[in-house]
Amino acid sequence: MVAGDWPTALAPMQDVTGLPFMKVVARRGSPDFFFTEFIRVHAHSRVDPEILSSITENPGGRPVFAQLIGENLEDLRRVAREVNAQPIAGIDLNLGCPAPRVYRKNVGGGLLREPDKIRRILDVLSEEATSLLSVKMRIGFEDDGFFGDILEIIEESAVGLVSVHARTVKGGYEAAPSYPHVARAVENLSCPVLLNGSVDTCRDALRLREKTGAHGVMVGRSAIRNPWIFRQIREMQSGSPVFRPKMGDLFRYFEDLFNALAKPGISEKGHVGRMKKFLNFVGLSVDAGGEFLYAMRRSRTRDELFLVCERFMILEGREQMDFPLEPFEGLASRKGKPVLERGRA
Ligand SMILES: Cc1cc2nc3c(=O)[nH]c(=O)nc-3n(C[C@H](O)[C@H](O)[C@H](O)COP(=O)(O)O)c2cc1C
Repeated sequence: MVAGDWPTALAPMQDVTGLPFMKVVARRGSPDFFFTEFIRVHAHSRVDPEILSSITENPGGRPVFAQLIGENLEDLRRVAREVNAQPIAGIDLNLGCPAPRVYRKNVGGGLLREPDKIRRILDVLSEEATSLLSVKMRIGFEDDGFFGDILEIIEESAVGLVSVHARTVKGGYEAAPSYPHVARAVENLSCPVLLNGSVDTCRDALRLREKTGAHGVMVGRSAIRNPWIFRQIREMQSGSPVFRPKMGDLFRYFEDLFNALAKPGISEKGHVGRMKKFLNFVGLSVDAGGEFLYAMRRSRTRDELFLVCERFMILEGREQMDFPLEPFEGLASRKGKPVLERGRA
C-alpha cells in the first residue's frame, strides 16, 4: 500500500475465497487484506486444513484475517488459540451470515438479535487476541433496531477493524444497500471501518468511500466477476490510467482459475460445476443478452465449457474487445437501488 492510499479487502466468501482464488486474484493485483472463508466453531471443531492453507501459504505476504463463526464462548476461545498460532493479521468475527441453517443456531447474522451475547463473545476474543480483533457485520437482523447498541459494544471493546455489509440479514444479497449505516458506523467508532456491499466498480469504490468516510472498501462478488478490481481501485486512487481488461484477458483468467481449482480426486463433473459457480458472476459482464450464462450453465464437460468460453471471449475477434467494467443491467437481479443519502435509509 502506498502512503496516503486507503486499503482494499477481498470479502470472505465460502467455497470461493480459498487459497486458489486468492492466488488467482493476487496475480491480477492484490487487495491489501484477505479474509478466510468462515471457520465453523462448535464443540470439537477443528480448523479445516484447506482454510488453514490460505493463511500459511498466503500469496504475496498480504495479511489474512481468520474469520470465525460460532457462539459458544469456550469453543471460540479454543479455536482463537488455535488460529493465533498461525501467521494471521487478526481474528474476524462473522456477524452476518444470512443462511437460515446458520442464523437459526444463533451464529453469524443470528447474533445481531442478541447484542449482549456479542459483548460476551468480544470479551472472550479480546482476552485471547494476540493480533487485531475484527468484526464483519450486517446492519441488523430484520431491521436496524440494535445497530446503535452493537456499535456501542464494539466501541467499548478491543475491536480494531469493522467491516460493515450495508444490508440486514433479511435483506440477503440483493436488497438495496444502505450506505448511510456505514457513515453512522464511521461516526460512532474510533477504529477503521471498511465499507462492503455492492461495490461493483473502481468508480463505486471511490465514490462510496468518499460519501461515507469509510477507511477502505471490501469487495466480494465483483472481484469474482472482475479480478482486476483491486488494481483498478489503486490506479484510480493515484490518478493513473485504469487498466481495461480485454475479453482475451478474461479468457486467461478463466483458464488460470480452472487450473488453480484442479485438485487430486476432483471429478470432471465436480470441477466443471465448481467453475460454473464462479462463471455465474463473470457472465454478468460478458454479453447483455445473457447468452453466455445460458450456454455456460448447460455445459457438462471440460471441453464443452472451454468451447463456450472460447466462443464468447476469444473467437471472431472478441479477444481484443473490452471487458465491461460494470455488470449488465438486468442480468443480476437487483431488487432496489442503493440508498445514498442519509435519512432515506
Ligand atoms: C458465495 C458467497 C459466500 C460468502 N461467504 C461469506 C463468509 O464465509 N463470511 C462472510 O462474512 N461473508 C460471506 N459472504 C458475504 C460477503 O463477504 C459480502 O459481505 C457480500 O457478498 C456483500 O459484498 P459484495 O456485494 O461485494 O459481494 C459470502 C457471499 C457470497 C456471495
